[in-house]
Amino acid sequence: MSKVTVVGVGNVGATCANVLAFNEVADEVVMLDVKEGVSEGKAMDMMQTAQLLGFDSTLVGCTNDYAKTANSDVIVITSGIPRKPGMTREELIGVNAGIVKSVAGSALKYSPDAIVVVISNPMDTMTYLALKSLGLPKNRIIGMGGALDSSRFKYYLSQALGCNANEVEGLVIGGHGDTTMIPLVRLATYKGIPVSQLLSKEKIEEVVKSTMVGGATLTGLLGTSAWYAPGAAGALVVESIIHNQKKMISCSVALEGEYGESDICIGVPVILGKNGIEEIVKLDLNAEEKELFAKSAAAVHATNAVLKEINVL
Ligand code: LAC
Repeated sequence: MSKVTVVGVGNVGATCANVLAFNEVADEVVMLDVKEGVSEGKAMDMMQTAQLLGFDSTLVGCTNDYAKTANSDVIVITSGIPRKPGMTREELIGVNAGIVKSVAGSALKYSPDAIVVVISNPMDTMTYLALKSLGLPKNRIIGMGGALDSSRFKYYLSQALGCNANEVEGLVIGGHGDTTMIPLVRLATYKGIPVSQLLSKEKIEEVVKSTMVGGATLTGLLGTSAWYAPGAAGALVVESIIHNQKKMISCSVALEGEYGESDICIGVPVILGKNGIEEIVKLDLNAEEKELFAKSAAAVHATNAVLKEINVL
């Protein structure tokens, strides 16, 4: 039996749980939140769609009862506050760091062998915090940011190309921040054709900019962080792990010398399977991309340093 726990069932967590159940990724999806009754209510509401949508996964809601999450294969952490318009993800660190550390520790007590997927922001720093505070091997701590950013990149590329988003390939590496993410234009293709052959330089510039501020654009429209794509991106990561799909997905993972970086979690392509991170894929970056990656990593290191300043690490 496969079991996934989603901690924090606000918009992102609830969407992630919904996608996991609808796609029958796990036999059981446990939804846990601190707000009395909310997880129970959302789980019941979703279970009432099982006959309508035809899925057989079971959803269980609970208020802070970690015993119900016992023996999960994967724990998804979405806890914390979302962005308000005009806020950066990094500004959330003061509130979210303590919450993420505490919920991850509680969940791991009941599922000591679980793989942890971090969604909470600032995502790279929260992934680093989980890595440092849980003491798990690095293959079991995964931040989902690159999966989301890559799907936004493919969306904006498909809009510019006027094509089906499923026929576009695109990878975003680096930090999950408005100024730190790196959409890899050189490797983006439409049915194998480099997008640089199909779009003007100006158009590509526009796509890159829109991708980088993709989350902020939605926060401006919605008044809070987006949730459909973030939740689905989390579910994509979980699915590749639970079903041992060995998909290559850009995720925030601990680097130990790869890409010239160490003591950091940052977005690079990885192969995800039953052991979590099965392999870190080493791209042959050109000089410009290497420079962007080093700059992105420096910004993530700076945000990580705040964890010590606020005594969470
Ligand atoms: C976003 C938030 C969830 O990018 O980080 O929408």
